[in-house]
Amino acid sequence: MKDIAQEFMEFTKYKYLGESEQLQGLPQPPAEAEYDLEKPKIGLPSPDSLPFGKIALIDALNKRRSLRNFSDIAMTMEELSFLLWCTQGVKKSKSGLQPVLRTVPSAGARHAFETYMLINNVEGLRPGLYRYLAFEHKLIMLDEDTGIAGRITACCLGQGMVGRCAAAFFWAAVAERMTWRYDTRGYRYLHLDAGHVCQNLYLAAESLDCGACAIGAYDDDELNSALGLDGERQFIIYSAVVGKR
Ligand SMILES: Cc1cc2nc3c(=O)[nH]c(=O)nc-3n(C[C@H](O)[C@H](O)[C@H](O)COP(=O)(O)O)c2cc1C
Repeated sequence: MKDIAQEFMEFTKYKYLGESEQLQGLPQPPAEAEYDLEKPKIGLPSPDSLPFGKIALIDALNKRRSLRNFSDIAMTMEELSFLLWCTQGVKKSKSGLQPVLRTVPSAGARHAFETYMLINNVEGLRPGLYRYLAFEHKLIMLDEDTGIAGRITACCLGQGMVGRCAAAFFWAAVAERMTWRYDTRGYRYLHLDAGHVCQNLYLAAESLDCGACAIGAYDDDELNSALGLDGERQFIIYSAVVGKR
């Protein structure tokens, strides 16, 4: 085996997998990561009532490009609500029990992501770091320190679009939610799932006359630390910026 990447692909083949926690009869991890229940929740406009997303799929696909320069026009709460819904919105859950169905597919419907948001320019929201509570379709603020945008930009290797965008999405993987069923092969599925989420963001952004740009270039340790993640049980797997043209 030449390197660790090849080893990963080899030893996550089904023939090498151990007995997953699910097969061992262990209880499944919660469908949502814990959060501070004391924090006030910020309601988002209901996705049912939003007049967006009427663009023809073929037009969205043809128009889609990565956008790195944005206008100063703020995004609205309605638009943010729509983008959160399109990327991680919960369509069906039996009072928090799995399987949960969302607007994106997920291996085994494990849905192992949490969404963190850097808000720079959204009407009605103070700039800062937020987390999306997908089951309630609400936000909580985690950090309103004005230095957070600069810190996160630095974590993304100084890519200035992180500070210039209206909002940046950071998708954190909660590994145990996936590996409970798929053991180490679950790490493959985390990466596959993340692609679906970001593609939905790209296409949904087109329907708002916004643009998005995926971000895979970041310092993992620094970014996890800036977002308060331990980097093992929960770590950033993908991110993207979005804003008005
Ligand atoms: C996994 C992945 C990671 C990416 N990371 C970055 C990034 O860190 N910075 C950036 O400017 N663009 C990034 N991009 C955007 C690509 O550069 C872009 O998709 C590519 O150049 C094709 O251009 P298009 O999206 O306009 O078709 C990334 C795209 C993907 C799919």
